[in-house]
Amino acid sequence: MLVIVSPSLCSKTGKPNIPNTFDIVKYGAKGDGHTDDSNAFLKAWEAACSSTKGTPILIVPAGKIFMTQPVTFHGPCKSETINVMIRGTITAPQNREHWKSDSNDHDSWITFNHISGLVVNGGGTLNGQGASWWDKKDASNRPTALRFLGCDNVKHGPLTHFNSPRNHISVTGCDGVLISNVNLIAPETSPNTDGVDISSSTKVFIEHSTISTGDDCVAINSGSKFINITNVKCGPGHGISVGSLGKHGECATVEEVYVSHIIFTRTTNGARIKTWEGGSGYARKITYDNITLIGVKNPVIIDQQYNALESVGRGVKISDVTFRNFRGTTKDKKAIELNCARIGCTNVVLEEINITSLNGNRPSSSCSNVQGSCYSCNPTVTCLGH
Ligand SMILES: *[C@@H]1O[C@H](CO)[C@@H](O)[C@H](O)[C@H]1NC(C)=O
Ligand SMILES: *[C@@H]1O[C@H](CO)[C@@H](O)[C@H](O)[C@H]1NC(C)=O
Ligand SMILES: *[C@@H]1O[C@H](CO)[C@@H](O)[C@H](O)[C@H]1NC(C)=O
Repeated sequence: MLVIVSPSLCSKTGKPNIPNTFDIVKYGAKGDGHTDDSNAFLKAWEAACSSTKGTPILIVPAGKIFMTQPVTFHGPCKSETINVMIRGTITAPQNREHWKSDSNDHDSWITFNHISGLVVNGGGTLNGQGASWWDKKDASNRPTALRFLGCDNVKHGPLTHFNSPRNHISVTGCDGVLISNVNLIAPETSPNTDGVDISSSTKVFIEHSTISTGDDCVAINSGSKFINITNVKCGPGHGISVGSLGKHGECATVEEVYVSHIIFTRTTNGARIKTWEGGSGYARKITYDNITLIGVKNPVIIDQQYNALESVGRGVKISDVTFRNFRGTTKDKKAIELNCARIGCTNVVLEEINITSLNGNRPSSSCSNVQGSCYSCNPTVTCLGH
């Protein structure tokens, strides 16, 4: 028999890239929205992750709702790449009381742990069922919906995420993560529901996505480096923030952050950097470029005294920060706030800023302990050179 393998089916190594699929229904998932399908997810994952043929694909089929308790997908896997294709809906237990508490994975609902070459896509939906968690005062117990922990070379999206109890996506200790074409949606009033939360990670790119939540659209935390966020619509939400850094005297570092082509709609903040007094480390080489503002409360804000009760004379250094090409409207009076502590912020550059007020009044700016410059700024920032 003559077997013709077309070149396009071949992987780089020359081995045929045979589709190698693991449908969770074949592993016993019911997909009725109620039955606990956790075991089917884990069994399908175990099979896919130990497969050596081509790129294994774990399939969550369309047209069904699969309920799962907190699950962790552990790597490393045998293959170079592995694909989780979510075409249908995955839902968390509907009520907080029904989340299994004997699990070790309290802090997140779905965890990908130490997997490299992971692709999560399929255009389906993740529903974190956060509502029953939000009214509780005890914020520390609310789980993140999806966590990438120690993963390298990840591609995530297209996918839609709804109503996480806490962060929709956390990226922790990863190198090389591309999040694109995701919709992250939770009510404006839902507490701590960050869109994407990045920490201790390098080369994280977020692009072509829409984030509407009750907290930061993206939060960039300590240990983050080479972060690129572009073509994102944010709002409602609390903007795209670096920090908060240096809480409880911690040493925190963030550098090489590039945020561009963003539309902020009715967010509480736009571009924000916030650090606590008493910490150490730095936030530097941060650029926000080409930003459209629609009724934003605090479009540009540096706060080096976040939650400060008294000045302690130490803090996270802030330097080499650029805000360029901001246009649009602010909801409140103060469009630009550069509030640095005694240690000061250095080389803060504002360029081509034109922020007008929704109510027709002239917006204002304020600044303290900042060294830098302002070119073509409306409103002007008087403590900066021109
Ligand atoms: C970040 O994105 C911009 C496009 O907005 C691109 O020009 C730049 O090269 C990117 N940076 C990296 C490190 O990929
Ligand atoms: C600025 O960003 C918008 C999207 O917010 C994009 O459509 C436009 O092309 C960008 N402009 C430049 C000059 O890069
Ligand atoms: C600033 O924006 C307002 C409102 O869009 C516009 O009328 C004004 O011409 C702009 N100013 C500059 C210097 O571009």
